[in-house]
Amino acid sequence: MKGPKLSLPFPDISRNLFDLSGCVSAVTGAGRGIGLALSKGLAYAGSDLVLVDLNAGHLEGAAEEIRAIGRKASTVHADVTAQDTPERIVRAALDMGGGIDVLINNAGIMGYADIIGITDEEWDRMYGVNLRAPMRIMRAVLAEMVAAGRGSVINIGSSWSSRASVFNQDGGGVDYCSAKAALQSLSRAAAQDAAPHGVRVNAIAPGAVDTPMHAHHRDYLFEYEKYIPLGRMEVAEDLVGPAVFLASEAGAYVTGQTIHVNGGLLMVD
Ligand SMILES: NC(=O)c1ccc[n+]([C@@H]2O[C@H](COP(=O)([O-])OP(=O)(O)OC[C@H]3O[C@@H](n4cnc5c(N)ncnc54)[C@H](O)[C@@H]3O)[C@@H](O)[C@H]2O)c1
Repeated sequence: MKGPKLSLPFPDISRNLFDLSGCVSAVTGAGRGIGLALSKGLAYAGSDLVLVDLNAGHLEGAAEEIRAIGRKASTVHADVTAQDTPERIVRAALDMGGGIDVLINNAGIMGYADIIGITDEEWDRMYGVNLRAPMRIMRAVLAEMVAAGRGSVINIGSSWSSRASVFNQDGGGVDYCSAKAALQSLSRAAAQDAAPHGVRVNAIAPGAVDTPMHAHHRDYLFEYEKYIPLGRMEVAEDLVGPAVFLASEAGAYVTGQTIHVNGGLLMVD
């Protein structure tokens, strides 16, 4: 990969390692759910935000929340699968001044397909939103980060990358589970390319999070609360600490990893 090869500085622990003051972060799917919580968490840590979402109303609401925290917010009203979305995100970040420090590829859709019933169209839609789009956005953003010699990319995977989905009443979720596993693998391989340039790529794999994504089967979702070792359903805010850690100096020596955040769900059958 073209760009300066850097030697990593040693940490200065006299500073607040989680401070994101002066940073610009882009978050996709920022209008609600996990993306909104992550955007607010980054803003509370000091970052300005580029918010990306398909839903114009949610996007404006999110921007107001970021401004109420005292940070700048710029919006990109876009489908992540659109051809020009990566370029629009990069431009919006650069227009805020100073470059792009953090990208969170969060926008995603759920799938419930079974292997016999899935159509080619369902498969392509899932892989378009949950894998191809984050790859294209990451590619465009990494080019800027590598040239600047700094940056952190976080891709939102899933516990369902490591198991068949128990939450799918209709099918195993072959589309969703496999696309999230691929996204986590993509993160690891891209991390190797970016590492010599001082840029990090990681993934966060949430468990089952009580967000609007599950609104249509919330009762069903909560039936699984008793299986969560830490004893309560996961909320979007549970992902903020790990995201700020990976985004900031605190995570400066962490790359190519998937951090599983699921209340212990994956350690038991
Ligand atoms: N909720 C969970 O249980 C859970 C668990 C593991 C992983 N995840 C992952 O976390 C991410 C966020 O999930 P959530 O529960 O907050 O979902 P959500 O449906 O509540 O919110 C998703 C947001 O992304 C936006 N979005 C969807 N498709 C888009 C597109 N093509 N272009 C632009 N924006 C788009 C939506 O408008 C919405 O604002 C997803 O990648 C999801 O797969 C969720």
